[in-house]
Amino acid sequence: MKKSTAKASRKPAKKAAAKKVTKKSAKPAKKTAAKAPRKPLAVVTGGSSGIGFELAKLFLLNDYDVIIAAENAGLANAQKRLAPMGNVKAVKVDLAKESGVKKLYAAIKADGRPLDAIAINAGVGTNGDFVRDLKIKNEIDMISLNVVSTVHLAKLVLGSMVKRGKGRVLFTSSIASLAPGPYMATYYATKAFVSSFTDALRNELKDSGVTITTLMPGATETNFFRRAGMEDTAVAQGSKDDPADVAKDGFDAMMAGTDKIVAHSMTSKLNALAERILPAGLAASMGAAESKPGSATQ
Ligand SMILES: NC(=O)c1ccc[n+]([C@@H]2O[C@H](COP(=O)([O-])OP(=O)(O)OC[C@H]3O[C@@H](n4cnc5c(N)ncnc54)[C@H](OP(=O)(O)O)[C@@H]3O)[C@@H](O)[C@H]2O)c1
Repeated sequence: MKKSTAKASRKPAKKAAAKKVTKKSAKPAKKTAAKAPRKPLAVVTGGSSGIGFELAKLFLLNDYDVIIAAENAGLANAQKRLAPMGNVKAVKVDLAKESGVKKLYAAIKADGRPLDAIAINAGVGTNGDFVRDLKIKNEIDMISLNVVSTVHLAKLVLGSMVKRGKGRVLFTSSIASLAPGPYMATYYATKAFVSSFTDALRNELKDSGVTITTLMPGATETNFFRRAGMEDTAVAQGSKDDPADVAKDGFDAMMAGTDKIVAHSMTSKLNALAERILPAGLAASMGAAESKPGSATQ
């Protein structure tokens, strides 16, 4: 639908360009080209690597202009890699800070176009014994990113989408949202928040024209495990999904307006099913076996 709209509105621009050419003036023709209709706009937080990078690719391949947001130097490299596929703007922000969320929103507003789609995807994990090992600062920073920035950004972007009666929002939660996760206790709880929050939003917005899709990946081959310092765990060393497959599942679900999607492999789907149906105590024991530091060699 978006493509045909773009094509239809491109025609007058071509006509105008032809008119200028007959006047043998190069400058006005350039001006007219600059006025050509712009593509729909999408934003991907955490678009510099892993699932977010693959989501950004999919938006570009589907004729969107894309803003990617992340906090580290890898963002510029991601922008370079994506640039051959289309228009990509990189916004360097720490979304764990309120100022970072506001800065990203300012960049979205500054673009001038209505926001057609956003993947609120940036997230990190921590791993270890909550009482004896983990630093509270890291736990709180993770909550600030995975929970607080998700709520804040959703609040900022959804208002104008609802006014417009149009918009697609993809939230990256996790199958971790379905069960307690010893040695990743806070992380699992952040994802339970995201799944609950998005299920509720979807109901509130059901007649608004704005769709809310929850992406629930299983273990996926990204920087996530290294960043969480959990490479010695069974889950980190086990089989993992390809982030391109996970992103594709999420992208397709978002475009179809599907409520939620577990991605991608049968292993991830079976893990999600087990987490859903097992008593919490049993699911917690299974989670502990996968995520306990050193579990890869125990
Ligand atoms: N990998 C898995 O097994 C798995 C499973 C289920 C759910 N998930 C979820 O999938 C999402 C994407 O993670 P991933 O697996 O693709 O991991 P990833 O490759 O580490 O990507 C994380 C992305 O988030 C960005 N990010 C991290 N902290 C940020 C901050 N403070 N401000 C702005 N951006 C920040 C990173 O950018 P910088 O490098 O610049 O910080 C990066 O672009 C997360 O929400 C994660 O919880 C992952």
